[in-house]
Amino acid sequence: MSKAFGSKYRIESSKEAEEFYSFVKDLLNNETVLEMKNFRHHYSTTCYQHCLNVAYYNYLICRKLGLDSKKAARAGILHDLYLYDWRDVPRKKGEMPHGMRHPRIALEIAKQNFDLSKREQDIIVKHMWPLTLRLPRYAESYVIVVTDKYAAVLEIGAHVKGKLKGLGSKAVGSVLRKVS
Ligand SMILES: [Fe+2]
Ligand SMILES: [Fe+2]
Repeated sequence: MSKAFGSKYRIESSKEAEEFYSFVKDLLNNETVLEMKNFRHHYSTTCYQHCLNVAYYNYLICRKLGLDSKKAARAGILHDLYLYDWRDVPRKKGEMPHGMRHPRIALEIAKQNFDLSKREQDIIVKHMWPLTLRLPRYAESYVIVVTDKYAAVLEIGAHVKGKLKGLGSKAVGSVLRKVS
């Protein structure tokens, strides 16, 4: 069972997420996409969870704005499909930083595995704009620029909250040890 961070709806079973799930179900169960579970993105969040977070908010915002919420959701799932932990791969001499390079890598892997429309390709390859310099061509590509950052904030927040909880229980533990 999965949820996007900040959402109370289970993707696979709630009425509220039913349409979203119908748009991305095949991707979420695809073995190449599932590989993203093996790679960490922001702190303890995997690439898979991060892409689910971005896809869900892409879907909600694009639906609200009357944009193509299906393509936005599907491209969201694929936007970070680069399949490595960027911390483990040293940058080669003359190579662009990971932040600028990975949208193109994700797009190549996505194209090898799925049929993508021009709009979906643009959403994936421009999600790091303005780092990727060329202007997004579609409104949905601007939406992912925002949702990608929003998801990062939620993920870093979840990590900090987890750390504070850990510290809190350690502090309670030490107080209890002193009292006993
Ligand atoms: Fe990315
Ligand atoms: Fe991302």
